[in-house]
Amino acid sequence: MRIAMIGTGYVGLVSGACFSEFGVNVVCVDKDAAKIDGLRERGDIPIYEPGLEQLVASNAQAGRLSFTTDLPTAVAGADAVFIAVGTPSRRGDGHADLSYVYGAAREIAAAMTKYTVVVTKSTVPVGTGREVARIIREVRPDAEFDVVSNPEFLREGSAINDFMRPDRVVIGTESERARAVMRQLYRVLYLIETPILFTSLETSELIKYAANTFLAAKITFINEVADLCEKVGADVHDVARGIGLDGRIGRKFLHPGPGYGGSCFPKDTLALVKTAQEYGAPLRIIETVVDINAKRKKAMADKIIQFLGGSVAGRTLAILGLTFKPNTDDMRDSPSLDIIPALQAAGANVRAFDPEGMKEAAKHLANVEYADNAYACMDGADALVILTEWNEFRALDLARVRSLLREPVMIDLRNIYTPEDMEAQGFRYSPVGRRQ
Ligand code: UGA
Repeated sequence: MRIAMIGTGYVGLVSGACFSEFGVNVVCVDKDAAKIDGLRERGDIPIYEPGLEQLVASNAQAGRLSFTTDLPTAVAGADAVFIAVGTPSRRGDGHADLSYVYGAAREIAAAMTKYTVVVTKSTVPVGTGREVARIIREVRPDAEFDVVSNPEFLREGSAINDFMRPDRVVIGTESERARAVMRQLYRVLYLIETPILFTSLETSELIKYAANTFLAAKITFINEVADLCEKVGADVHDVARGIGLDGRIGRKFLHPGPGYGGSCFPKDTLALVKTAQEYGAPLRIIETVVDINAKRKKAMADKIIQFLGGSVAGRTLAILGLTFKPNTDDMRDSPSLDIIPALQAAGANVRAFDPEGMKEAAKHLANVEYADNAYACMDGADALVILTEWNEFRALDLARVRSLLREPVMIDLRNIYTPEDMEAQGFRYSPVGRRQ
């Protein structure tokens, strides 16, 4: 089998590398010549994802994975061509911007030389697959092809494992010929008994959005319950466990925090809200989720300020963690991008440390002093704030933390410490949804 992967962003690069690990011959294509050069010549990975560098290097060396800017050559003769280009939120209306997807469809159409399965792997709104098919037919009325929707459910930070051992694979197409090609590509997953769902194009497209918006709603639910826990003196972790052990609810994605961020949930919730409104079937739950989550990020700055006595003017706050979650350098829609400016607007001086995200953060945040490590970050600060739950922040030497801070105050928006431990260590401690 030979495939072309159009777009070497998160999804494209991880999927390309993983398919090559499955034994498929993969050519990854991108318009960004510098990126392709880096990948081809030096194995430079443009994103931070554990294990990806090795996976790319070993498959490139084995000759199963290559990189090019030459789309026509990569597409010619391929059994399947995956579209994994970006679908950012369109400025102004929240719709997914599909210009890259449709642009790729046109170029693919012009380059196909035999029966080709064209697969949309990017998260695309319902109806996009049909439009891709229409475009290809328009450009190449003679071409033999099928369009398949095959959404990706991988998480940043555990992307390779998520691809290699997924909970399920969803394949949307009505064509038996295309299904056979997809079965062949995912042959390895059949061997480990992964559920593989065949659906229509539209169903598959909607499954992706329904999954992400459901998870965003689950997080938002527990975040609101956490706020209530603080008021009534309950513990949100016990509540989450107490409800999560009910198999109908499930334990995952019930961890409270400063609001969801990242490249997917914020964009996908907005896009589904728009689609639903347009079709006259509004998803009011998700509309509310979007609204609550946006407000939550701002409310977290107020929570910090209140805990520090109502004013942070002239005080230095040490912030640990900037990325939207650990094990990534991704800053997209990270809560830190709302919380830090709000603290600065209230007069705080912000010093920050993040193991991977500082370079990206510096492009988005002004007037932040970046420290070399966690301890340098908190040296002489008035309080410590944990924004992202990197493992290295879970094991801080608390005696050292206490001696470095001007006062032993910690606001832990990820609940990586416990009120009991922090009290025993002599800290004033503010978690989310637990005893303060
Ligand atoms: C998410 C989905 O989990 C993936 O299944 C999906 O493939 C991906 O979007 C996508 O559409 O490409 P990702 O954005 O990488 O993956 O990150 P998550 O681990 O889902 O976290 C998203 C946000 O929710 C983060 O800000 C995280 O801190 C927050 N979160 C997550 C919570 O606040 N509480 C939780 O219990 C879980």
